[in-house]
Amino acid sequence: MTARLVVCTTCRFSSEEQMNADGLSGGQGLMQAVSAVVESEGGGLEIEAQACLWACSSHCTVYLAAPGKPAYLAGRFSPTPEAAQAVVAFARLYAASPNGVVAYREWPEAIKGHFIARLPADGAQEPSSERLS
Ligand code: FES
Repeated sequence: MTARLVVCTTCRFSSEEQMNADGLSGGQGLMQAVSAVVESEGGGLEIEAQACLWACSSHCTVYLAAPGKPAYLAGRFSPTPEAAQAVVAFARLYAASPNGVVAYREWPEAIKGHFIARLPADGAQEPSSERLS
């Protein structure tokens, strides 16, 4: 199974600068880095660009989702190859998992501390959730 990896392309380069010296936003830079990693590994992930994921203060941000699995919003990345490798590695583990849960011991080191939200799967109730009405 694959997963959607959505990269915000309008995120700032840094808290001081919207763009880098080449005129790229941080999000554009992260998108290029993520695309390069996925391409070098032979594809297998759906990568999408989107303007603003509404987590601007946590730039650079990414969103990861797959049918029937909880989605994740992560941020506070720099647009670097190292960050891109961590995001892609986690996305591959997530895509390969049956339920969207990746054991913490498998997390790439560079993704730790970057998650902002874990969002319930669309239309599916998780075993740990409780319907109140
Ligand atoms: S500009 Fe990237 S989350 Fe808003």
